[in-house]
Amino acid sequence: MPRLANLYFKTAIIFLIIGIGIGLKMAITEDHSVIGAHAHANLLGWVTMALFGGYHALNPQKAERRLAMIQYYIYTAGVAVLVPALYLMLLGNMAMEPIVAAASIVIFLGVLLFAFIIFSAEQANATISPARSH
Ligand code: HEM
Repeated sequence: MPRLANLYFKTAIIFLIIGIGIGLKMAITEDHSVIGAHAHANLLGWVTMALFGGYHALNPQKAERRLAMIQYYIYTAGVAVLVPALYLMLLGNMAMEPIVAAASIVIFLGVLLFAFIIFSAEQANATISPARSH
């Protein structure tokens, strides 16, 4: 598996642990006010990052590009800031609102970069690997 695909899966599972942690906290306390932080940790973190990692695993050539690593850092930084800021905002800390807004735009930028990666062609000078015997 390409290094970046592995990195995306490692990051994704951390967000699933955080997301489930928030879910369990909601269930135990019967206070569901942080539902948005739970849903976004799980969906932008675990689910979307695992999909990005899966795409890179299937397209190892694209995973080697510098742009793919830049996309990882931008998207991951956005989610890593959004989840705690949204959590605090939903608990009533409205000073977090501009941070949530800024992180949302960073995440969107990361998604647009991933769209660019998906639509871009594979490298033209790729060498054709010999057929496998198994
Ligand atoms: C042990 C694991 C989990 C626990 C304990 C848990 C717990 C919860 C709780 C207590 C709520 C609030 C329900 C409500 O107020 O109506 C909730 C909502 C939600 N959860 Fe989870 N959850 C878990 C896993 C997940 C996962 C893996 C995902 C996504 C991949 C997810 C996505 C969502 C979403 C999208 C909502 C909002 C649903 C809505 O507003 O209708 N949850 N969860």
